[in-house]
Amino acid sequence: MAQESGFPAMVNDRLLRAARGEEVDQVPVWVMRQAGRYLPEFREVRAKHDFFTMCQTPSLSCQVTLQPLNRFPLDAAIIFSDILVIPQALGMEVEMRPGEMSSSPTPRALSLNLSYTYHTRILKPPNMGPVFPSPLRGPEDLSRLAPPGDACTKLQYVFDALTLTRKELKGKATLIGFSGAPWTIMAYMIEGKGSKTMSNAKGWLYKHAEASHRLLKIITEATIHYLVGQVKAGAQVLQVFESHAEHLGPQLFRDFALPYLKQICDQVKEQVKQLGLPDIPMIVFPKGGHYALKDLASLKYEVIGIDWTVDPILARELVGPTKVLQGNLDPCALYGDKKSIDAAVKEMVQKFGRHRYIANLGHGMYPDMDPDHLAAFVQAVQKYSKD
Ligand code: CP3
Repeated sequence: MAQESGFPAMVNDRLLRAARGEEVDQVPVWVMRQAGRYLPEFREVRAKHDFFTMCQTPSLSCQVTLQPLNRFPLDAAIIFSDILVIPQALGMEVEMRPGEMSSSPTPRALSLNLSYTYHTRILKPPNMGPVFPSPLRGPEDLSRLAPPGDACTKLQYVFDALTLTRKELKGKATLIGFSGAPWTIMAYMIEGKGSKTMSNAKGWLYKHAEASHRLLKIITEATIHYLVGQVKAGAQVLQVFESHAEHLGPQLFRDFALPYLKQICDQVKEQVKQLGLPDIPMIVFPKGGHYALKDLASLKYEVIGIDWTVDPILARELVGPTKVLQGNLDPCALYGDKKSIDAAVKEMVQKFGRHRYIANLGHGMYPDMDPDHLAAFVQAVQKYSKD
């Protein structure tokens, strides 16, 4: 097995093999937001530290990255961080505040600081959401941004967290690094927080097309440096989250998302090659981007992640026989009982097939999910996917 120097030998390389399209003994499985507030041990650490302090402290990031792997036989760890560290590195302020997502927590839930009961869901843990106190209001604000080439010097803490985590993993699972895709990051920089319509950010695409491309180029350049830095630090697979693909549609996606996703994949692969490192499998996850699957299949990403709104059989038709697919159980299926989770996973694995497939949810875990139900998901994937 090819081995970069300085890291433990791989004991389990199932996910790496599947991502490269190689045969595997069983379907590899991990889930988005596997390190998060649904785990009591995560909430314990989180109660003591601010969200971005956790991201910026390699020992804490490593600790919570490994938490789900201590519970479940997962094939990958995704480094604990956030896509919004790129706008921060470009000089924008970002805070994680309670109650910024769609449904706000009750004052009582907040005062109880995350104590709640599974299933009854009377008390939900507080929703946290990112907020930019000074979002980009117009093209003139682009002058506020730091040069993208310098941005990565501020992200050394992510690289340190990756190196530490890769060592601590001891080869038992593949380490995934990640970034947001340029349109998704642009949308946050302009909206300043989550939005149902993304109308401010989409307004830029129609009103300020040239400035939108300038902004997307800045983000793309910073992201390429950032992802190459992650590979140098020990990331073995990279996932690019286009979490706001659903707001674009085919033409806006072709104009404002696809070219930058292509540049990221081409450039990262090229620069990794020039550094003499092994080729790195890359995953693109266009949340809500069913309409873009065929276009995305023309890029060099080995793996395409799909959400639960896409039928796996249709996705396979759209992306062709050689791409690897990742996904796609509706995360809310984990609210069902274990029997129903087992049945849903059986159907999912049957539809995707056992090869060129990485099992995952169609989006991330929610804070009020029962860890035992994730255990049932992982167990079912392994049960139905053995050769
Ligand atoms: O386990 C993992 O998946 C690794 C860590 C991870 C986080 N964010 C930690 C996090 C990853 C991969 C992300 C990516 C991310 N961040 C995305 C892309 C994935 C997606 O959900 O589509 C996006 C859009 C963000 C921006 C962001 N960060 C939002 C919208 C929120 C609030 C809503 C939410 O899902 O909780 C965050 C906060 C955040 N990022 C939390 C965690 C564990 C919860 C905040 C907390 O602990 O206080």
